[in-house]
Amino acid sequence: MSRSVEPIDELPGKKSAELQKLRDEYVTRALGIVCPAFIEKAEGSYLRDVDGNKFIDMASGIGVNVLGNLHEEIVVALQRQLERYMHLCFGVVHFEEYVRLAEKLAMITPGDFSKHSFLNNSGAEAVENSVKIARFFTKRPGIVSFVNSFHGRTMFSLALTGKDVPYKKGFEPFPKEVIHAEYAYCYRCPFGRERDSCSLECLYALRKIVSSPENKDVIGSLILETMQGEGGFIVPPADFIRGVRDLCNEHSIVLIDDEIQTGLGRTGKMFCAEHFDLEPDMILTGKALGGGLPLGAVTGRAEIMDSPPKGGLGTTFGGNPMSCAAALTVVDLVQKNLNRVPGMNERIADRLHDMQSRHTMIGDVRGLGLLMAIELVKDRKTKEPAKEETRKIVSSCAKKGLVILSAGLHGNVIRLHPSMLMDTETLDCALDIIDATLHGIEKS
Ligand SMILES: Cc1ncc(COP(=O)(O)O)c(C=O)c1O
Repeated sequence: MSRSVEPIDELPGKKSAELQKLRDEYVTRALGIVCPAFIEKAEGSYLRDVDGNKFIDMASGIGVNVLGNLHEEIVVALQRQLERYMHLCFGVVHFEEYVRLAEKLAMITPGDFSKHSFLNNSGAEAVENSVKIARFFTKRPGIVSFVNSFHGRTMFSLALTGKDVPYKKGFEPFPKEVIHAEYAYCYRCPFGRERDSCSLECLYALRKIVSSPENKDVIGSLILETMQGEGGFIVPPADFIRGVRDLCNEHSIVLIDDEIQTGLGRTGKMFCAEHFDLEPDMILTGKALGGGLPLGAVTGRAEIMDSPPKGGLGTTFGGNPMSCAAALTVVDLVQKNLNRVPGMNERIADRLHDMQSRHTMIGDVRGLGLLMAIELVKDRKTKEPAKEETRKIVSSCAKKGLVILSAGLHGNVIRLHPSMLMDTETLDCALDIIDATLHGIEKS
């Protein structure tokens, strides 16, 4: 597809609107949508809809297509796999792709110790299983999660998720064993402090939770995103992450690092944990891992991963051969292209900071690697979230041919999810559209 996008007269277009009728009639209304177009073809960093409209893809299917859409080498790997077998179930017979991927995961995840993996179908399933395994190992049911976190939408992963609306409200009750602690969200410090001059009150509060008499012998695990994803690409201070690791060590708490969104090169390192020299006890991957096919993985210290009895873990489709074949290629390609990320980060960060100097709506620019975000406010002093404006920007960008995602506790963050193979021309074009849209919204 050519490298340009045009403003779109009508969104959804005629054919998309026809299909939309089917959606309205037969698909649950509880599913949201970012851009109301039906896609005919997705290639590299571009999407083309059934009406011929073209979009730059800055959503990557919510952080999945780290190498763009329909990467040739992934397609070839899948074609080859199709000729051998599609589904066997690793609980019935063995197949090579599963063990090769487990080996790769052990090699690329942080920590120089023996690691074992369990492969599943999705991020949420990886989260669920990590909690099961940690509980079995520690025999302590309590788990600490963080405010503003996102860990999935199945019942336990939803319990861990730290955002109520629209994810949790009305779906209660949730297990009482989950305790939410404050995250180091420095732009909106829950303790009213400023970054760089605080005393890590968030860490102090976490310490109080973990060592309180009622929790002391109950909490066995802690799950965190080393950079919050859905929460709006919140990068915590390194001392916060170090403090969490120390605290877990002191209390023999299993530290689960949820890298479902941040893993596989997105932050410029294979895993975000590497930015903080963190060695988690378990690390969760998903999204990008399957190259577009459903796949999640729990990788952890062998003694923890092996603690449940034989048959204690299992799944019909998890780690299916097609997903594993794609994942093996994804890991190789990410390793090969990781060196592209710092340059892309610099380009995006420079542009976003420049926009911040001209658009007062941008309260904060943050992120790592390809995962950069802007937090939009009505007023820089009060930091009142510009939620409605953010919604308008996302929708207006779609009409200009750019698909982007919002995020954040208040829905006022725009997060970018470009593929690491996006070319400079396309990247610049996407950033130009955001800039022009911000300008338009501020003037209106
Ligand atoms: C950090 C994190 N954990 C877990 C999940 C859940 O993954 P899935 O949607 O594949 O169940 C997500 C999805 O956005 C995520 O970002």
